[in-house]
Amino acid sequence: MSSSKIGFGLLGAGLIAPFHAKAINNSSLARLIGVSDVNADRLAKMTSEFGCAGYSNLETMLENPEIQVINILTPNHLHFDAVVKAAQAGKHILVEKPPAMSLQQIDSMDAVCRSAGVKIGVVLQCRVRKPIQAMREAIQKGRFGKIFHADTYMKWFRSTEYYQSDAWRMSRRSGAGVTIQQAFHYLDLLLYLMGPAKTVHARMNNLAHPKVEIEDTLLAFLDYQNGAQGVVQASTALWPGTDLRVEINGENGTAIMVGERMETWKFKEECPEDMEIRQTGGATVATGATGPADLGFRDHQTVIEDMVEAIQTGRDPFITLASVRPTLETALAMYRSAKNQAPVQLPLTDEEVW
Ligand SMILES: NC(=O)c1ccc[n+]([C@@H]2O[C@H](COP(=O)([O-])OP(=O)(O)OC[C@H]3O[C@@H](n4cnc5c(N)ncnc54)[C@H](O)[C@@H]3O)[C@@H](O)[C@H]2O)c1
Repeated sequence: MSSSKIGFGLLGAGLIAPFHAKAINNSSLARLIGVSDVNADRLAKMTSEFGCAGYSNLETMLENPEIQVINILTPNHLHFDAVVKAAQAGKHILVEKPPAMSLQQIDSMDAVCRSAGVKIGVVLQCRVRKPIQAMREAIQKGRFGKIFHADTYMKWFRSTEYYQSDAWRMSRRSGAGVTIQQAFHYLDLLLYLMGPAKTVHARMNNLAHPKVEIEDTLLAFLDYQNGAQGVVQASTALWPGTDLRVEINGENGTAIMVGERMETWKFKEECPEDMEIRQTGGATVATGATGPADLGFRDHQTVIEDMVEAIQTGRDPFITLASVRPTLETALAMYRSAKNQAPVQLPLTDEEVW
């Protein structure tokens, strides 16, 4: 084991923790030092599977000088406190999505990390996928011409048992609900590609989980600041779950990503790189459609290695808090719109939406 590897500690030993652990162990730049969880059984399972130290609380893990980065993998409403503690202990941070429950929290997290001189990145790993990078580059080069539509369709399935496995998965105040939990990734991709929205009109309901008091389905219309319009359709009610889609339609071209595969890549003016872009991704890549563990860890590894490089070079991580703020703001606006049954203008002037 090389001592030049950056040491990581995981806060939370639940569902996503093994994906982080495998991503770290698979990297030549990182090593997993320890895991912390308040649940002793989950903690024991992780420490025995990955041969790392176990801590029953964050404070003790923060005392280990070998740990330079803390990955925050707790339920969504607990991210804020953990970020503040880790930053004040001088640790760099990777926080799972959504990074926080309010814009005020995001702004405070940013301020605390800046004053502590530590880096903070957000785990929105879908941004690193090749089709998304190809779409972004084509948008920046103006290849689509005027963009008319940017949409996402997430027709997924989660069982009632998934929701009932932990109280936080059934509580909107804890950050559950298809909008802020699963669809957050794909709303983030739309805004990453298109820039901010100016109006949101959303409808939410619960189609298939009557024992769970949160929305399992979101339908929303977006007007982007750049003049395009879009649809977000997201559900965990649609058995068995099919690969998500991100679609961009402009006057001069159309791009459609399905799962991780570039299904359509067609422009009025062909470029030399287009043949290769059409081969991107594989039909069999698991992207979470049928169950929460239906995932690979490669994109997490990219995010982890990006953090290592950010630490070593002094640059910002690839996915900054500031870049995720519009995603949280738009998700919050969707909740307000659904509650008031009316469109909501952005930016939000106050964020009391729950
Ligand atoms: N990037 C992705 O694709 C992806 C996928 C799944 C989950 N996530 C995110 O990861 C986070 C965790 O989700 P999950 O599905 O693993 O949840 P989970 O409920 O399975 O795991 C959370 C763990 O945190 C532990 N925990 C709670 N309070 C704690 C505390 N104070 N100190 C230490 N541990 C504590 C719980 O005991 C539990 O083991 C969420 O933010 C979620 O949105 C991201």
